[in-house]
Amino acid sequence: MEPVIPDLRDTVRADAYARLLEMQELLLHDSTDAIAGMATLSALLHHAFGHLWTGFYRVVEPGRLLRVGPYQGSLGCQDIAFGRGVCGTAAAEGRTVVVPNVHDFPGHIACDSASNSEIVLPLIRANSELLGVLDLDSPVLERFDVIDQQGLEQIVRTLLATLR
Ligand code: SME
Repeated sequence: MEPVIPDLRDTVRADAYARLLEMQELLLHDSTDAIAGMATLSALLHHAFGHLWTGFYRVVEPGRLLRVGPYQGSLGCQDIAFGRGVCGTAAAEGRTVVVPNVHDFPGHIACDSASNSEIVLPLIRANSELLGVLDLDSPVLERFDVIDQQGLEQIVRTLLATLR
């Protein structure tokens, strides 16, 4: 039987991430393909939590340019320069950026005016190469906190560990 994405909107957040990690391990334990992993995780995270936009930007010019990758939700911007917006900041600084209110973030790129909060995590391989970023956008203010950061960082680590 094909697994069904659970509705985790009302589940205690730490339990929700534990459940998603189990599903990720079930679905992607032997997947070495980055695009397949990104696509599957976009669908899982997006539909489990009902976010506005969930997906990946890939590094296409190291140190310079991100380009949209697999995602779910409303239309995303195509290209984002390193250092621009939340995604470009996470890429340039190699760290997770949590934005409780995007309207307070200087240089935020509004791909969808319904977005109010955001979290972006860098995908950094063991050899320190930046592969891209994972971006989640929500219409809810202050939607992402340290539990989301920890849960998503674990999911990103698990993705990176299976890639070629
Ligand atoms: N808001 C992001 C741009 C990407 S989209 O919202 C999909 C940013 O400032 O990086």
